[in-house]
Amino acid sequence: MTTTIYGAGATRVGVREITPQIFWISHSAGDQAAKLNRGFAEDFARVNPGFDPEANDIIYGSYLFLDEKTFLIDTLGPAQHETMLEALGDLLAGRRLDYLWISHTELPHAGNAAAIVRAHPEVQLLTVGGHDHYALHGLGDARQLAYGDCVDLGQHRMEIIEPLFVDHALTQWIYEHRTGFLCPVDWALNAQNQHQSFRFMDEMEEVGYSRERFQHDVSITNCVVFPWLRWADPDQIARMIDAFYAKYDIRIFAPSHTNVIRKDVPEYLAALREAMRSVASREFSIVY
Ligand SMILES: [Fe+2]
Ligand SMILES: [Fe+2]
Repeated sequence: MTTTIYGAGATRVGVREITPQIFWISHSAGDQAAKLNRGFAEDFARVNPGFDPEANDIIYGSYLFLDEKTFLIDTLGPAQHETMLEALGDLLAGRRLDYLWISHTELPHAGNAAAIVRAHPEVQLLTVGGHDHYALHGLGDARQLAYGDCVDLGQHRMEIIEPLFVDHALTQWIYEHRTGFLCPVDWALNAQNQHQSFRFMDEMEEVGYSRERFQHDVSITNCVVFPWLRWADPDQIARMIDAFYAKYDIRIFAPSHTNVIRKDVPEYLAALREAMRSVASREFSIVY
């Protein structure tokens, strides 16, 4: 497992190669996560005994494609401002950044947009259309996209797709046709403990994680991330997910807050569907 790490704690960023042209740039606070995130895992575990009480770390993910054109998905958060720019600069190694795509305007996803534009003024910003206050988020000059719009990078073709699960309406997902890469942004979401930073999901299994735990994690975290699921129909949710899986051949599952899944993808996707079915079946409070 080769990981290049920048910074520590709140600034800590790791770079992993998924394919020779696709890189995972992520934030993981490691042994400082419990302090920074105020030990939320213990509270989660008290209510949900299957949850790891040491899993205090939430991943922020960003992905870089180095093709004939270069394409960055999301920016990490403001605390990773300098380490993100450093990691990005090292990966680009003097090349220009052609595109920066913003999935939705929240700080862990878009908080460094303005800083990246300042460092790479040639970049074309891309984001979801139909929004307000773009300038506030550093997206004043962004090209606004619709579902079905594609950006060709050379060997990779990025398609903006309609999301299934959103935490606010103006969110897009993105799919790459040749590699079967999908970034479903906030969907999935597992926490991790300090021994699990920067690992692909198959490497998480080497340190005690499992598909069953992933399913359990998602069934807890997605109540919080998508509280509207309280009113959703579980069978309809499962049918929508299956239709989505049938439409998109997913071979690299690369959300924003989840360890990247590159092996046993169908099994993990099945676990994810069952997790969502159970979220929609449960009674849960949306007031904490
Ligand atoms: Fe979000
Ligand atoms: Fe998010």
